[in-house]
Amino acid sequence: MPAHFTGKNFILLDRVSSTNIYVQELLSKSTPLEEGSVIMAVEQSAGRGQMGNFWEAEAGKNLTFSILYKPDPLPIEDQFYLSMAVSLGICDFLEKQLSHDISIKWPNDIYYNHQKIAGTLIENSLQGDKIKNSVIGIGLNVNQLHFESEAPNPISMKQISAKDYELEEILFNLLSFIEYYYLALKSFKYDYLKERYLSKLLFYGQYHPYKTTNGIINAKIIDIGPYGKLCLESDSGINYYDIKEIEFIL
Ligand code: BTN
Repeated sequence: MPAHFTGKNFILLDRVSSTNIYVQELLSKSTPLEEGSVIMAVEQSAGRGQMGNFWEAEAGKNLTFSILYKPDPLPIEDQFYLSMAVSLGICDFLEKQLSHDISIKWPNDIYYNHQKIAGTLIENSLQGDKIKNSVIGIGLNVNQLHFESEAPNPISMKQISAKDYELEEILFNLLSFIEYYYLALKSFKYDYLKERYLSKLLFYGQYHPYKTTNGIINAKIIDIGPYGKLCLESDSGINYYDIKEIEFIL
């Protein structure tokens, strides 16, 4: 299943602050950049994670890259389908590589058991109320064996399989999985994406403790709402949360 257009335009940088910022700078200067362009860095000096965190990745050992997609016309309330598509692509790729179940911790952290193996930072630019450009930054822990920060409980492919991976080779393989789901999004297969996403979601349908702004609750994920909000059912009924309002207790 080769990627058709994702990665056709491929730029490899030795060192950059952040591949997401690099793509955004090109876009802000109106540099023509075709849909599916992939910018990969051997090293990021200021790799960015979600919620303003730093993304740790030892130089030359991991995949740190950004894809530029132009999913127009995707209304902003449906933007989370793009996130679902990307997470599903990473999941399927890793399940193939590692012959092990991989799950998605809402909204888009990729987990091997209870350890984080990949993260995604999607930054959209809008035209009116539609997404024009989407910069999809992906960090996948590949050959790194020691992590300085314990914070997201990281794990790499090599720590799991004891194998060394050739980065560019697995990158293009991963891109083909992501493109498959991106094409599903482009053909408006929303129900299919949501069904697959929920089937991979960590703690879906199971009671689990969460820290909310109103304290700790025991709740189960029952759905994903508009804008990708997490829909939880607990003693207090059904509530929707965005990423700043809830924390998983792991
Ligand atoms: C997360 O916190 O889970 C998201 C991590 C995203 C990291 C990737 S690495 C490539 C791209 N460039 C960045 O600065 N961040 C993303």
